[in-house]
Amino acid sequence: MTSPLVDKEYLKEIDKARRDLRALIYSRSCAPIMLRLAWHDAGTYDAKTKTGGPNGSIRNEEEYSHGSNNGLKKAIDFCEEVKSKHPRITYADLYQLAGVVAVEVTGGPVIDFSSGRKDSKISPKEGRLPDAKRGAPHLREKFYRMGLSDKDIVALSGGHTLGRAHPDRSGFDGPWTKEPLQFDNSYFVELLNEESEGLLKLPTDAALVEDPEFRKYVDLYAKDAEAFFRDYAESHKKLSELGFTPNPTSSKTTAKDSTILAQGAVGVAVAAVVVSLGYLYEAHKRANTIFGLCGFGLGISIGLVAGYFLFIYVQSSDVQNPEIRPLVDQDTETLQRMLPEIPQWVKNPDYDRAICKTAKEIAKPIIAKEIPNYKIESVEFETLTLGSLPPTFQGMKVYVTDEKELIMEPSIKWAGNPNVLVAAKAFGMKATVQVLDLQVFVAPRITLKPLVPSFPCFAQINVSLMDKPYVDFGLKLLGADLMSIPGLYRFVQELIKDQVANMYLWPKTLEVPIMDPAKAFNRPVGMLHVKVLRAMKLKKKDLLGASDPYVKLKLTENNMPSKKTTVKHKNLNPEWNEEFNLVVKDPESQALELLVYDWEKVGKHDKMGMNVVPMKDLPHNEPKVMTLDLLKNMDLNDATNEKQRGQLEVELHYKPFKEEDMQKGFDETLTVQKAPEGTPPGGGLLVVVVHEGQDLEGKHHCNPSVRLIFRGEEKRTKVLKKSRDPRWAEDFQFMCEEPPTNDKLHVEVVSTSSRMGLLHGKESLGYVQITLTDVVSNKRINQKYHLIDSKNGQVQIELQWRTVE
Ligand code: HEM
Repeated sequence: MTSPLVDKEYLKEIDKARRDLRALIYSRSCAPIMLRLAWHDAGTYDAKTKTGGPNGSIRNEEEYSHGSNNGLKKAIDFCEEVKSKHPRITYADLYQLAGVVAVEVTGGPVIDFSSGRKDSKISPKEGRLPDAKRGAPHLREKFYRMGLSDKDIVALSGGHTLGRAHPDRSGFDGPWTKEPLQFDNSYFVELLNEESEGLLKLPTDAALVEDPEFRKYVDLYAKDAEAFFRDYAESHKKLSELGFTPNPTSSKTTAKDSTILAQGAVGVAVAAVVVSLGYLYEAHKRANTIFGLCGFGLGISIGLVAGYFLFIYVQSSDVQNPEIRPLVDQDTETLQRMLPEIPQWVKNPDYDRAICKTAKEIAKPIIAKEIPNYKIESVEFETLTLGSLPPTFQGMKVYVTDEKELIMEPSIKWAGNPNVLVAAKAFGMKATVQVLDLQVFVAPRITLKPLVPSFPCFAQINVSLMDKPYVDFGLKLLGADLMSIPGLYRFVQELIKDQVANMYLWPKTLEVPIMDPAKAFNRPVGMLHVKVLRAMKLKKKDLLGASDPYVKLKLTENNMPSKKTTVKHKNLNPEWNEEFNLVVKDPESQALELLVYDWEKVGKHDKMGMNVVPMKDLPHNEPKVMTLDLLKNMDLNDATNEKQRGQLEVELHYKPFKEEDMQKGFDETLTVQKAPEGTPPGGGLLVVVVHEGQDLEGKHHCNPSVRLIFRGEEKRTKVLKKSRDPRWAEDFQFMCEEPPTNDKLHVEVVSTSSRMGLLHGKESLGYVQITLTDVVSNKRINQKYHLIDSKNGQVQIELQWRTVE
């Protein structure tokens, strides 16, 4: 087959397929098998004969039925779902894209992806992939044949950080790491850990530790996750491009150096703006405004900004019938799927038409409700288009503090050229109002917090506005001189401007939960009490006609060791009545695993049967007695499960922790002490901790101390001599009758020379004015501030607002 034509359309399809794969892999938790599929399609490459390689041939029955590909048909079928939606994409590209996405979705590095691979119907003979039972020379033979190096062998073997082996596929059993759905360097850590119990080490994995050349890399990757990610991304790219040279014009669809977090952050910056504007729009809808005739035009065009953002952000691929939904309405999974997508601010006439149509529909009932108040007969849009200019980011400040949060302050501007013509009829006259030169500047502060170790790396977005937004526009009247009365036009314009700007100010921060922080941190959310009551009709295992049963129990996806009952000797109907407590972290996905074993004095204990109870099937706060049939395994299709193995009776009682208890734990780092007794009611204690300074510089000397001025009261730290990076760690308190919502704290760093009579005895090293609104609402802020009138100087100040309640 010839290479596909990689044009703009093809790349667009790749982008869409990437999104679909992300959703599919995420929802079915099938990252490991997708990665294995990509590797097995590519790993047949022979550099000498230039045959095999990532060419989609694994979809041929002849190839997927090779013993080494056992189980991969499932992944091929998953990919087929995506292929049917994007038929132009070759199988070869699709399988490799699936591999790249699998790594990304599970927290691995972003792998550069180029498209344009050809499909092949010709499958290589069986035996090109490495055999897991062999050693280092065999690995070298196979990978060198592909044109890959020792470093590639070790880095790529790190793919076993994902997934597990299945006895019915390869004959091996178990995962390589404790978190088989998380891409990290734990494969190497466990390889070197001789005590890692229950984890798999294939002979080929062991070869990496034994061979001195390989071992160098194993040691490096176990120590340095960043080095592993870097090398893995490079080797994976090589593997996925064996025998394929990307066309230099086939532009890539992924930024090279971006990380998931960076992508997420930018996505969220945009998302947060969307949310803020959406909120504004909602406020506008609800507000009982005094908007008159002209207000509609403006109100709608502001609404349009919101609509524009919202629409583009949550656009589906068909634009005929857009559904405008605030991001907050989306479920976690959808959000996770779309956050990394940075919207393209492309002008497309279809968007414009669709948004304007929707905006008109939304506006209609509002207009209908308002017009009787103004004795107006009708108000209609004559023209409504968004113009050609998309909103732009003017810049973005990012702060990383010590509080597991990321703060971003983008500044956004939409100097649009929308054309909004509103025609109103009143008293038999018609007035047409045009909105001109609309400009909106907003400076939201977006805080991603807390930052968590799993995708998308933060649990909540908080949005607040730093300042009153700037709104400006022109109004032109056509056809009637209703407002040509001197002064009236200006008056109306001012009024509207104020109204609109006021609507942007929230009473408090807008919080958009992204994921359950408990889940993100894998924090305990409840306790499962298990009472193992008894077993009935167990089967004889020992030659001498009896069994010595005991029960092993554990929660899946938990690193805790299993718990065990006592052994009941020579008993096929044992009574235990023994109780255990297990910590539950994710009741949605965890399950209780119960295994009955026959105890042996010597040798392996035989499994007599097992069963699994998904946590989500259990009632909350109410005991449930269950009689479970003992099975050989949990495979529903396994005919051997028909055999009677006896039953196990247990009492299960799941007690989720109460919401308040959880919140307490979660906010641990954020809580501040209460204000002391005697604090005026309604007031509080403002605590200012002056931590340290950085890069301070004086013209004549640098013996810094910090001066704080709050409501006219002044306090000072001690002077630290000859220090550009001083550490004061002093705290100060100001008692307030009422919250300092509209006050500022003046912080100034001054340097004092101890030499008497010096001309420049004192000099200022810079200052900053901190607005206290935020600390009143957040209770605690710990941040570095750049000093004004200083080159690079910064000062770290922690503020706390302690109240009595
Ligand atoms: C170095 C030679 C390799 C050998 C001998 C080998 C062998 C195996 C074996 C025996 C399994 C178990 C299959 C099963 O029972 O389901 C497996 C699974 C897996 N392999 Fe490899 N592998 C090698 C290299 C790689 C590479 C280079 C990657 C990817 C970069 C990779 C990714 C995986 C994944 C993700 C799984 C788990 C699949 C699942 O959970 O369904 N392997 N491998």
